[in-house]
Amino acid sequence: MPQKNNLTAERIWDAFTQKYQQTPRLFRSPGRINLIGEHTDYNDGFVLPASVDKAVYFAIAPREDDLVQLEAVDLNETYEFQLGDLTKPEQQWPVYQLSVLDQLQKNGLKIKGFQASFGGDLPVGAGMSSSAALECCLLFALNELFDLGLDRLEIVKMAQRAENEYVGMKCGIMDQFASVFGKEQSVIQLDCRSLEYKYFPFPMDKNLLILCDTKVKHSLADSEYNLRRQECERGVEILQNKYPEVHSLRDATPDMVEEHKAEMGPTVFKRCKFMTGEIQRVQEAGKLLLEGDLESFGEKMYDTHDGLQHQYEVSCPELDFLVEQTRSNDDVAGARMMGGGFGGCTINLVKRGGAENFEKVMKEAYQEKFGVELPCYRVSITDGTSEMKG
Ligand code: GLA
Repeated sequence: MPQKNNLTAERIWDAFTQKYQQTPRLFRSPGRINLIGEHTDYNDGFVLPASVDKAVYFAIAPREDDLVQLEAVDLNETYEFQLGDLTKPEQQWPVYQLSVLDQLQKNGLKIKGFQASFGGDLPVGAGMSSSAALECCLLFALNELFDLGLDRLEIVKMAQRAENEYVGMKCGIMDQFASVFGKEQSVIQLDCRSLEYKYFPFPMDKNLLILCDTKVKHSLADSEYNLRRQECERGVEILQNKYPEVHSLRDATPDMVEEHKAEMGPTVFKRCKFMTGEIQRVQEAGKLLLEGDLESFGEKMYDTHDGLQHQYEVSCPELDFLVEQTRSNDDVAGARMMGGGFGGCTINLVKRGGAENFEKVMKEAYQEKFGVELPCYRVSITDGTSEMKG
């Protein structure tokens, strides 16, 4: 039985027991927020993510044969296939489950068939990493069910490769890492090169983190994400001619990029200028957070947004509008777009006492400008992927 007072977990559990008439095991993988450090992960930089109270749940039980039965509870759809046939499906959602099985196969890890019902309360396409949560959840569950012997870091890396290879989205490691390694009331400072990490306490007594969801659905795989990655790689190639020690933009400085402006051309130059600055900014921001200087930390969030908007060009008018609205609000220390971009949410650091007014003002402004209701999520930081015990 799922934990009491978790309605979403109960819903997934009930769907499974009704459909398959047996008792499953239940797993949870949270979505993530990221305080600062965007697109830095695949440039070997730093990120400051945390796992939150919106998650994907899998109720799951093994089978004796090789059949896989999946039920997407929120969509009321099912999909079945044999383990030996991992052909890409026509429906979009089973791609993520298949990507995990593809990885297991490539790594020679043997499982049997299984039946699963899954779903959750993590908005899809809102920049909170629902796909990473889904892949991590299934992989974590299969690891437990079939005693595959993977540790948490192996799960993270394998889930990332699942996304890179089968799904075709060349994401970095942040989302999977945050979903699996998240810790209650803490943000993770992750060095995406060495994978060393530290937890920073993030108390919510005085400030809240509020996400404003533009409802613009980003489609990262189809979008410019992979192109940004290539543009950064091109920048590294150019810098390497003069500085052989530069293996990624982590090794470069804004000055070095400036020096090679002409060779890079305007687009690659803008991307690399932003990225080298952003990698430095995350380190400075981490210090500010430790010192408890949230006002200065908030300034850095605005700087990041400006760069993502004008130099990295991954924002959109709805995100820019929402960030703009907060600049004159004294209760907001910082705001910016979050995640891959082109839609999804802004993240706002808001004084607790001003939260209600903040949400009201933002909803009204968004309604007036775009004629769309603006969902606001007050997030709390929870533990990462785990099995839920009754
Ligand atoms: C997506 C990717 C991550 C990261 C962010 C941007 O969420 O999956 O790896 O690059 O975008 O920071």
